[in-house]
Amino acid sequence: MNEMDNIISEIEEKLGNIKNIKELNDLKVEYLGKKGLISNLTSKMKDLSIEEKKEFGKSLNELKTKVNLIFDEIKTKLEEEELNKKLESEKIDITLPETKIKVGALHPLERVKREIEEIFISMGYDIVSGPIVESDLYNFEKLNLPKGHPARDAQDSFYIEDESILLRTQTSPVQARVMDANNEKGPIRILCPGKTFRRDDDDATHSHQFSQIEGLVIGDNISLADLKGTLEEFARKMFGEDRSLRFRPSFFPFTEPSFEVDVSCFKCGGKGCSICKGTGWIEILGSGVVHPNVLKNCGYDPEKYTGFAFGIGQERVAMLKYGINDIRSFYTNDTRFLNDFNRMDGE
Ligand code: DAH
Repeated sequence: MNEMDNIISEIEEKLGNIKNIKELNDLKVEYLGKKGLISNLTSKMKDLSIEEKKEFGKSLNELKTKVNLIFDEIKTKLEEEELNKKLESEKIDITLPETKIKVGALHPLERVKREIEEIFISMGYDIVSGPIVESDLYNFEKLNLPKGHPARDAQDSFYIEDESILLRTQTSPVQARVMDANNEKGPIRILCPGKTFRRDDDDATHSHQFSQIEGLVIGDNISLADLKGTLEEFARKMFGEDRSLRFRPSFFPFTEPSFEVDVSCFKCGGKGCSICKGTGWIEILGSGVVHPNVLKNCGYDPEKYTGFAFGIGQERVAMLKYGINDIRSFYTNDTRFLNDFNRMDGE
């Protein structure tokens, strides 16, 4: 019994020197292991009387429980200390400035295209596309621009091999393609964004490659009023609720009558500023009522159906909307320009 009392004080003394869990475990084995000092006490039982055995066994069990408790307590304390040390050494200094991660963003032209597409999709238009390498037939002939027509001069072309195949000079050929492909010769409502090419000297406002967004509507009794209503809806959604439109008579071989359409300046509201060059108006597209010859060329009966068409200059809209003053910056892929643009857009 004395030995048992000694063991407790011995353990308490030794525990004072324990520095880590390993040492603690070793100590535990020394006392509670199979051949440990406490287990050894059991062997002493054989020399005792039954009464003594009872009392001794009880005390021995109490001793084991107590010693186990002491070890558990110290173990928890040591584990806590070790965790705190680890946390302290792995602390991250969050006061350091972060390294900026470069993420991509939509190109301004793509952004404008998607915005315009959304507006027309909401009015029930289908988005279609056509070939960039186009035939003379679709790019000119079907659109009422026969060979030798003076209006062809305005669209100096990049020909491929001979003069029957070229890089399309406008997205208008897609009108003819969609009409041709419509077997029922029924109503049409399409929007076609795409790349176009003309032999031009590049400068701040001209580029030999650019993009247009073509629209075509064919149906019963489609009139100039429908064209005006549609373009007004587009202008308000694109440039703001207070915008009004001005239709200036113009000439396109595939429409009659034809118009160039101006939107009231969204910067100055029409008073006159640098963007609208003091006029209060900004030209954004060409449009008109589909010429009967175009309908006929594509198998439609002009007596039965009428339609309207328009072609929006995508770069022009993007330049106006985002205050970009050199068309070439769209194509040079200078990331400083693209970043500036994204910043401007609040991203
Ligand atoms: N294709 C014309 C151009 O490139 C733009 C245009 C004008 C398209 C009138 C049309 C339209 O559909 O009706 O200058």
